[in-house]
Amino acid sequence: MTTNKNQSFFKRIIKSLTKANDLGKEAELLTDHDYDGIKELDNVLPPWWLYGFYITIAIGIFYTTKVVYFGAYKQADELNADITESNAQVEIYKNEHPELFKTDVVLLTDAESLTSGKKIFETTCLACHMIDGGGGIGPNLTDDHWILGGGIETIYHTISEGGRPGKGMIAWKATFNPEERQQVASYVISLQGTKPANPKASEGDIVWTKQ
Ligand code: HEC
Repeated sequence: MTTNKNQSFFKRIIKSLTKANDLGKEAELLTDHDYDGIKELDNVLPPWWLYGFYITIAIGIFYTTKVVYFGAYKQADELNADITESNAQVEIYKNEHPELFKTDVVLLTDAESLTSGKKIFETTCLACHMIDGGGGIGPNLTDDHWILGGGIETIYHTISEGGRPGKGMIAWKATFNPEERQQVASYVISLQGTKPANPKASEGDIVWTKQ
């Protein structure tokens, strides 16, 4: 009995949600629409669907009024908020890793720094630039012609990031810390105007001479 009761309760809910007509009433509900033998019953729209539809209309009006007329939400605001937040994160990262963002590289001229730079040059860079910077696989570093550009900041950048792809000059930022790169860049500049044993012919269209 209980099962039947439950069943009828369930059926009543379904009925109130669908307002479906009882079977057997087709004759009363039949409209005179007839399309190639397909006939139409005059059923009402099921309430579950109809109220869902009303709710979407209500939400649509509410949303349009709020967003379009009162400007409660603007994509541009969201974008600007995101940009501000990202910039703040970049600043935090920069502060946490100052060594990665050294932009104010200055030429070092003190003997100690140049000796450290020379040591790096004579153990690492000589393979391609020769011990006196005269050039081999890599260009001559003692003349005033540059492929990638002269000046402490540019040379520091070349040493850090490497030359053009496939040319053989790798990025040294993983090998040497910023101070060491600054020292070796300064040492490279100090080589300008010296007389290497076997100078390689000048390469590069950029002319830069140290002051
Ligand atoms: C494996 C060979 C190789 C090694 C090792 C090497 N270089 Fe180079 N270097 C090159 C080549 C090749 C170029 C030219 C890159 C280009 O044409 O883009 C170059 C270019 C350069 C330039 C730019 C020259 C210009 O005319 O603009 C500088 C400065 C330089 N190297 C410094 C160094 C320093 C400092 C080291 C050591 C830390 C070093 N190189 C180690 C091969 C090397």
